[in-house]
Formats: sequence, structure tokens, C-alpha cells
Amino acid sequence: MEPEPIPDLAEATALARAARRVVVLSGAGLSAASGVPTFREAQTGLWERYSPEQLATEDAFRSDPELVWSWYQWRARLIRSCTPNAGHLAVAAWQRRLAASGDSLTIATQNVDDLHERAGAEVLAHLHGSLFEYRCADCGAPAEHDPGAAPEGDAGSAPDLESMRRVAPPSCAACGVGMLRPGIVWFGEMLPAGALERTLAALQHCDLAVVVGTSATVQPAASLPYAALGVGAAVVEVNPEVTEFSTAASVHLRGAAGQVLPALVRAYDGPHGHHRPD
Ligand code: APR
Repeated sequence: MEPEPIPDLAEATALARAARRVVVLSGAGLSAASGVPTFREAQTGLWERYSPEQLATEDAFRSDPELVWSWYQWRARLIRSCTPNAGHLAVAAWQRRLAASGDSLTIATQNVDDLHERAGAEVLAHLHGSLFEYRCADCGAPAEHDPGAAPEGDAGSAPDLESMRRVAPPSCAACGVGMLRPGIVWFGEMLPAGALERTLAALQHCDLAVVVGTSATVQPAASLPYAALGVGAAVVEVNPEVTEFSTAASVHLRGAAGQVLPALVRAYDGPHGHHRPD
């Protein structure tokens, strides 16, 4: 059965074909089809089921390190059990195509998962950190830690915090005092050093930005698409819903990333494969 036509795909394809320096800004919606919960979607979003104040601030970690540590270990194991979806694979393919013709596709993501990388893509910046990086909450020394694999067949089910198995964070081998914490940017914390600057530099030189799977509500990431508009670049939004950014987007492709991005890359390639008109 023919897939539903995606309105405005032709307009987005024309922008994609003309682009030489693309920046992809991705959010939780890109990983949704892989089984990773988003944050704000009704019923299913993590912040619909859990309170960010109880789990995603340094104060929360200090007041109940076992709860916060165990919850992030659950998320890390969940993502271990997930695989990149067609949306991640399309972005990686597009990145390779552009690199092959001496152009570029740069990725800056709000996602703390590693699905872009597992799809074979290079990521310029994880703006909100990574679930697979750890450091001492006191001395800041980076540390290795293996969250382990999700128990068979139990990966997805979100734990009830009351009954969740709690484990204490390991102590820091460097200072021997502090506890390890996940390398996540918690609310009220600074973004990783250089992540925002690198992303802004890429946006200031881009001719197309693709904003995929974000509600565009969390700053400073939510302002990034405007940096692209500010240099006259076009911005294509990929999201089944209307977001805070939609009215400013050059084109809003209303659909799921796992359908829309492969369609965009297929159209970009065209029936005879994409040959850049040098
Ligand atoms: N394809 C594309 N977009 C989708 C899909 C999909 N399959 N499924 C859902 N979406 C969209 C939703 O419509 C929503 O606009 O993805 C967006 C997800 O929004 P959020 O849950 O708010 O996630 P995000 O914008 O990435 O959150 C930003 O908030 O909690 C913090 O640090 C956390 O990085 C996170 C930040």
C-alpha cells in the first residue's frame, strides 16, 4: 500500500537538494519510534509520569541519590535494549551523502541516548549530556560505569518509584569521597562546555536546519532554530504536532520522523540518485 503523501515534502526536498551545510537539531521525538519515551507527551511522556523536581535536579540527587541513580540506570538499560529507527538511519545516510560530495551535515541533539551514533552518524554536540557518561558529583572526575543490560523482556516497563529496586551510586575512585552521577544536564545546570558554542557556530554557517522531534520548549535549545533563520537559512520542522516553533518554520512536515526523514532522503536522492549540479 502506498504510504500517505506527506504535505509540503516537495518544498522540503527542494530545500534539501539546494543545501550544502545542513544542521540537524534533534529531540526526544526522533527516538520515540525506537521505544524511548519522550518527556512531555500526554500519558507516555516521562514528565507526565514522574516529577522532574524529584528526579532531574542536583538537589533531588543530593536528597535521594539512590532513587535518582536507580532511575537513570533504568533509562540507560532501556536505551541499551533499543535500536536506531529509520529516522536515525536516514540522518546518518544523508550525512554520508553530503560528506561524499564535500558538503556537511552536522548533528546537535538534546537526546541523552546514543542512537544517532549507533546509526553510524557523527554527533557534534549532546546538548543535554549523555546517559552513558559518568562523573563524580563532588570532584567532577570522569568515571567509567556499566549500567548493565535490561532484564529479559522487562526493558520498557517504567518502574514505579516506590517499588523500584534501588541501588546506591558507586563512590568516586578519584577522590574517594563523592558519588558518581550520570553525565546528564539536570534542570538549572549549565550545558556541557562548548556544546552550545559549537552548535551556534554550525548554525551560523548553515543553509538549512532540520528540527526534528522536539517540543521546542526547553531553553537554550529551543532558541537554536532561530539562529539559523537569523542567517537566512531555511528551517524544516519534522513533528506530527504543532510546536512552539511551528509558525516560524520555513516548512513544517507534519509526520513521524521514522516516516518523514527516510522520505526526505529518498526524495533528495531522486529517482536516479542525487547528483549535485556542480
Ligand atoms: N517523530 C517526530 N516527532 C515526534 C514523534 C515522532 N515519531 N513522536 C513525538 N514527537 C514529538 C512530539 O510531538 C513533541 O513535540 O516530539 C516532541 C517531544 O517533545 P518533548 O517530550 O518535550 O522532548 P524534547 O523537546 O526533546 O525535550 C527537551 O526537555 O526534559 C528535558 O532534557 C530533557 O532533552 C529534553 C528536553
